Amino acid sequence: MRVLLLHSHPVESSFGRALHDLTLESLRKAGHEVDDCNLYEEGFDPVMSRHDRMVYHDYPENTKRVGTYVERLQKAEAIVIVTPVWNFGFPAILKGYFDRVWVKGVTFDLENGKLSSKMTHIKKFGVVFTYGATRWNAFLAGNPPKKIVTRWLRAHFGLTTPALFLAHYDMNNCTPETRQRFMDKVQAKMEAF
Ligand SMILES: Cc1cc2nc3c(=O)[nH]c(=O)nc-3n(C[C@H](O)[C@H](O)[C@H](O)COP(=O)(O)O)c2cc1C
Repeated sequence: MRVLLLHSHPVESSFGRALHDLTLESLRKAGHEVDDCNLYEEGFDPVMSRHDRMVYHDYPENTKRVGTYVERLQKAEAIVIVTPVWNFGFPAILKGYFDRVWVKGVTFDLENGKLSSKMTHIKKFGVVFTYGATRWNAFLAGNPPKKIVTRWLRAHFGLTTPALFLAHYDMNNCTPETRQRFMDKVQAKMEAF
């Protein structure tokens, strides 16, 4: 499968980057063709400008400033996201990717107020998240990034699309053992993706 791998961590020596590298290697080992989209390294501009907002609903005008990202998304058959959780959401660079690339005519259509998906080419998706919070505290906060993935993203692909949700909670108290256990899990799941 052609997998679009989205990554949003600014530090090369981080655990998040190690998870990205492992995910990339494991998906390739499984025989997938991976398009590695490291948003920080690519210098993706996440800011929706006035112009971007003005043309947000005008396809194909709305794709002109993000054309290569649109092409990469349209070629994908699966999507995997590797990211830390910041303020119970995505880092701004990843949020901005969705705002600027997932525009009308690309990921959805809107006719007479009725939304329809244009993402049925995505047959599988998965996420690898790290949280500073414990699982319980994330639950108490409503765990918005989990809901965004399992409800909002999934609605684009179809509710029967297989989804993989992997998370290391409580990074504030992680140890080499918890990190290694999580790496082993990520490796096994991505090799079987
Ligand atoms: C700007 C910022 C905001 C954060 N907000 C949250 C948060 O809302 N919830 C949470 O569980 N962890 C939060 N964290 C903790 C990160 O999720 C944690 O540092 C990260 O997952 C650890 O991975 P890393 O060492 O690869 O950066 C935040 C961290 C940063 C830097």
